[in-house]
Amino acid sequence: MPYCQIANNDICLNYVQYINHNLKKEQYKYMQKFIINGPVKLSGEIEVKGAKNQALKIIPASILSKETITIDNLPDVEDVKKSLALLEDLGAKISQKGSKVEINTSGINKIELNPEIADKFRASIMFIGPMLARFGEVKFPHPGGCVIGAGGRPIDVFIEGFKAMGVEIKEDGKSYHLKTKNGLKATNFFFKLVSVTATETLMMAAALAKGTTKLHNCAMEPEIASLATYLNSQGANIKGAGTPSMEIRGVGEIKAGNFKIIPDRVETGSFAIMAAATGSEITIKKCQPDHIRILLEIFKRINIPFKETADTLTIKKTKNIKPYNIKTHEYPGFPTDLQSPFTVLMTQANGNSLIHETIYDRRLLFTDSLSQMGADITMCDPHRVVVNGPSRLYGRTLTSPDLRAGIALIIAAMTAEGRTEIDNIYQIDRGYEKIEARLNKLGAKIKRVDI
Ligand code: EPZ
Repeated sequence: MPYCQIANNDICLNYVQYINHNLKKEQYKYMQKFIINGPVKLSGEIEVKGAKNQALKIIPASILSKETITIDNLPDVEDVKKSLALLEDLGAKISQKGSKVEINTSGINKIELNPEIADKFRASIMFIGPMLARFGEVKFPHPGGCVIGAGGRPIDVFIEGFKAMGVEIKEDGKSYHLKTKNGLKATNFFFKLVSVTATETLMMAAALAKGTTKLHNCAMEPEIASLATYLNSQGANIKGAGTPSMEIRGVGEIKAGNFKIIPDRVETGSFAIMAAATGSEITIKKCQPDHIRILLEIFKRINIPFKETADTLTIKKTKNIKPYNIKTHEYPGFPTDLQSPFTVLMTQANGNSLIHETIYDRRLLFTDSLSQMGADITMCDPHRVVVNGPSRLYGRTLTSPDLRAGIALIIAAMTAEGRTEIDNIYQIDRGYEKIEARLNKLGAKIKRVDI
């Protein structure tokens, strides 16, 4: 078990200690800030890490099998550490060397997710399906989640799906107890809205359910198809992953093998936008340009030149960025996770752009910080802003409300004149590995300091 180095240089010997130390001490989240000087021009190469939003599914997916799974290309980010801590607390054996981790869940000896950890991140919800599939019972708190979703990131779609699979639901307003009498049963289920994690959850639950489950109105993110391909290679029988309809024939057991996490398409898009906004030329390596096709199609229309190969993307210098209206949409539409960085880019475009955020109720609230920096942004309603560019941005003292707004504020600070301070950078550490070291290698001027 590796040790974890944390703020104050305390050494923790395992994940649960690491997370409990930080969560109990809360102030870790506010203990550090970034000081960023701009404007900067970037150059050179940056490698994309494994997709956080796939790592947070394959880790709980290990519960589906009693064998040892090896996961490679794991990103070293806070939410992944929490997920591993939650799994270890259940009784799994975990050993990690760098970005490779071995997990064996045969020793899981409890059905309650540690509320100290599970209520601190949304992706704890990903444990529910595999726990029900393997043990037929699970207790958990309402999952945590960043501030972007109004009403605490509801889980009604998950509850509907589990009820349809014969699960009894007991809840007391802050925690849930789910139980099946004779195991999960197959269902013909239509998602009332497209939900990435709900799709992945029911796909994993159905993999071990009795009978053939049909799911309709599924999310189609690339991470879903990649997870299904892995599960099928280990004995599952999942058809249609990556399309709106899936058919999953339950099997008796799923073996475990080796899994390599796909490149993080949100990191890829964030770095591409960062280059465009700062008028820089950089090459992004170990990425999959095809997974951000919509952004690249827009780059063609707003005068941002780029060259791509199967696993690299070079963004060329540009001056005259054209304005563009975007509307976030489930994959393969414009990803909500790239909306914040793109909004920053539009502050540098020559004209008006309408940004329409359709997925989350509060994801545009960060534009207030951009206005403080000098951007000309009009909020039409909680889901729509008009950005009038180009604007000269100036350094300010800001707070990162969520991880995607966090990277967007870093991009804004690299474009702005003067010194910017961003606190609550725990939010950025949730999804971007060693971000300041990687960006400083490109020529950024970012310092992480204790508050
Ligand atoms: C996943 O979240 C990602 N997280 C999000 O990334 C991403 O923004 C989102 O998909 C959309 O692409 C992970 O994969 C861990 P949803 P998820 O369920 O699945 C509503 C990041 O920054 N909804 O697709 O939780 C929900 O409120 C994160 O990395 C219900 O109403 O998102 C939202 O408005 C942020 N009831 C919409 O559906 C439910 O039961 C889509 O959410 C579930 C969802």
